[in-house]
Amino acid sequence: MTAVENTPSEEIESLRALIANDLTGWRKKHCLSLFDVSSAQFNAVLEVAKGLKALDVQRQMAVAWTYPRTLAMIFEKPSLRTRVSFEAGMAHLRGHAINLAANEIGLGSRESVADVANVLSRWVDVIAARVFSHETVEELARTGTVPVINALSDKEHPIQAFADMLTLQERAGALGNALKLAYVGDGNNVLHALLLACAKMGVNISAGCPEGYFPDPAYVAEAERIAQETGAKIEIFQDPIAAVRDADAVYADVWTSMGQETEKDERGNVFVPYQINAALMAHAKPSAIVLHCLPAHRGEEVTAEIMDIHADAIYEQAENRLHTQKALLMLIIGL
Ligand code: CP
Ligand code: NVA
Repeated sequence: MTAVENTPSEEIESLRALIANDLTGWRKKHCLSLFDVSSAQFNAVLEVAKGLKALDVQRQMAVAWTYPRTLAMIFEKPSLRTRVSFEAGMAHLRGHAINLAANEIGLGSRESVADVANVLSRWVDVIAARVFSHETVEELARTGTVPVINALSDKEHPIQAFADMLTLQERAGALGNALKLAYVGDGNNVLHALLLACAKMGVNISAGCPEGYFPDPAYVAEAERIAQETGAKIEIFQDPIAAVRDADAVYADVWTSMGQETEKDERGNVFVPYQINAALMAHAKPSAIVLHCLPAHRGEEVTAEIMDIHADAIYEQAENRLHTQKALLMLIIGL
């Protein structure tokens, strides 16, 4: 053991206690959808992430696992942030991540989802999966015996929302209904996660989406239900200007998500009025930040100028994927 491990600071002790006591019930829990994550559980991820972020990687060794834990990552779609943040995060925690590209394992074609889930469960502690169909992560969770994390599906991107809320909290000082986040663009997986995340954390959220590209009403209804308890305001507009009015943060995602490439031209036309540019930003608060889950297409959903002005917040948001996913893994696996 190193000197650092022998002399744990109060900071380290309270972080270890937060993970060990698991007061919010994360241990061995799946993270498939924010539908199943309570406000307290969401907040626990943010608290552990902040604790980890405050320590350099060497000092994190005093919190990390004492023996290696393993994460299998299944990717049916490309990834930079999700893959690297999980892989680097596992390395920081004395764990190991195994990357499995869909064409290598043939999920559902070379062998059944259930067989993959069961066999992986005999080897690893946690499975993370990025899938085309949300039903695939549900099937992995139902048929395997280890916790499954949704690393993006057609329906939701829950782990993105942890990083988004941490970034907003850091930038604004605190989360709550003094804050308004405006999402502009496609009513997709990222917006679905944001609707539930904001509702749970009491942040007001407005979305500006073109007709035909509104979010799934089930997500809006759930966000509205939660908002009654947390005081958040949930608004869906067709007009992007109405959505961003007086916002503290304006959020962009691609117009064409992975798997929708055949719709690219049509979407490219429909979404033009929904570009985040200087004219649209003029309707947000002068202090507003721009967030983007990335990858970004400069000149499409956001101008290069706006990306550059807000690069600090956007790259911090990407960095926060690392801290929040490490927190999630530690809460799910334990010490
Ligand atoms: N935001 C996000 O999930 O990025 P990747 O697709 O690169 O993982
Ligand atoms: N909505 C995008 C998010 C990418 C992180 C997609 O699904 O491709």
